[in-house]
Amino acid sequence: MTDGTRTQVVIIGGGPSGLLLSQLLSTVGVDSVVLERKTKDYVLGRIRAGVLESGMVDLLRQAGVSDRMDKEGHPHDGTIIASGEDEFRLSFRERTGRPVMVYGQTEVTRDLYAAREAAGADLRFEVEDVVIHDAKSDAPYVTYSAGGTTHRIDCDFVAGCDGFHGVSRKTIPDDVRQEFEKVYPFGWLGILSETPPVHDELIYATSERGFALCSMRNDALSRYYVQCDLSDRVEDWSDNAFWDELKRRIPSRFAEALVTGPSIEKSIAPLRSFVTEPMRWGRLFLCGDAAHIVPPTGAKGLNTAASDVHYLFNGLRDFYNKGDSTGIDSYSERALARVWKAERFSWWFSTLIHRFPDRSDFDARMQMAEMAFLRENDAAQQAMAENYVGLPY
Ligand code: APR
Ligand code: PHB
Repeated sequence: MTDGTRTQVVIIGGGPSGLLLSQLLSTVGVDSVVLERKTKDYVLGRIRAGVLESGMVDLLRQAGVSDRMDKEGHPHDGTIIASGEDEFRLSFRERTGRPVMVYGQTEVTRDLYAAREAAGADLRFEVEDVVIHDAKSDAPYVTYSAGGTTHRIDCDFVAGCDGFHGVSRKTIPDDVRQEFEKVYPFGWLGILSETPPVHDELIYATSERGFALCSMRNDALSRYYVQCDLSDRVEDWSDNAFWDELKRRIPSRFAEALVTGPSIEKSIAPLRSFVTEPMRWGRLFLCGDAAHIVPPTGAKGLNTAASDVHYLFNGLRDFYNKGDSTGIDSYSERALARVWKAERFSWWFSTLIHRFPDRSDFDARMQMAEMAFLRENDAAQQAMAENYVGLPY
């Protein structure tokens, strides 16, 4: 049996991209239905990065979901970059006039769910077998199954916000879609611990043993990462082994100050750069991880999803409120222009600060020279600061 409903925009995916788009559309009277494969608790159980570009902070304020972020988030004016015992501070504030906001993606997603639920939004969880139909027509529709029933939603547009493993990207035919990928020969082992952060700003560190990152969620919750081999499994790493390795990779003044404790979350993530072109096919638009992936080094995953949502929201708002399709017609080109700059920065920073297992002696010298140039050169630090706080939308 099939039941049918109709809405203006079907959003596939109830992660940050889908929820932010749904929330923004609601502020200009555009209706949407969000289809999410998992439960809300499962979505909120994902631990992801925690650095928001100033553009994303502005977008969350525009969406009316920034109150808790403004109370509990921490503006950061700079970061420490270390190579062995050598360290220097990169000041975002001095170089760009802007901070970044340290506020966990999980909290952003929680705030978005709270706002959508308060507004009585149509959020549908544990949906299965989502299929996008007639995306190239002016009457697309989406079907899915839930509770043994097949459902159909007729709409004007479909936003594919369903992440790297979703159905939206694959709906674009192979002979239309072009994919670009780089897989890195290492992963990140991350832990969450209920311990005070080792420093009041993030520390990006590289050493002969590899990369490490000291981050945080708040004054009592720290997030740490060490680069690990692709063959590593989480069970290979006891908490003590993690802490010992982290201490070996950060400057001794921080290693000595580090407060360790039991991990309350521990996971390994692979690193890849990935982009799909185009990000539009007829009335289907791809947003966020559905279209692109970055290594987490530059904290650009969520932030680049946000700029996609900004472009798509503005395009749909103008279509519905002014009958102007310029924004949706230029969406793919505009979004990809910024996506590729985020990919470049993430690739550059990852190449600078990780120890590549197959690196030649020349490669090692190039990394050392790049780090020395960044430490000593104003223009290099200006460029890094502008990319880190976020290039213009
Ligand atoms: N049908 C419905 N929902 C789906 C389907 C499907 N076929 N496939 C995936 N989903 C859901 C996932 O369960 C997930 O909740 O789509 C959502 C996609 O969310 P994300 O993967 O978080 O992607 P996005 O919203 O673009 O956010 C990008 O979040 O996960 C991080 O690393 C990511 O930082 C990036 C940011
Ligand atoms: C995090 O806090 O999880 C984090 C911060 C910065 C990054 C990546 C991850 O570049």
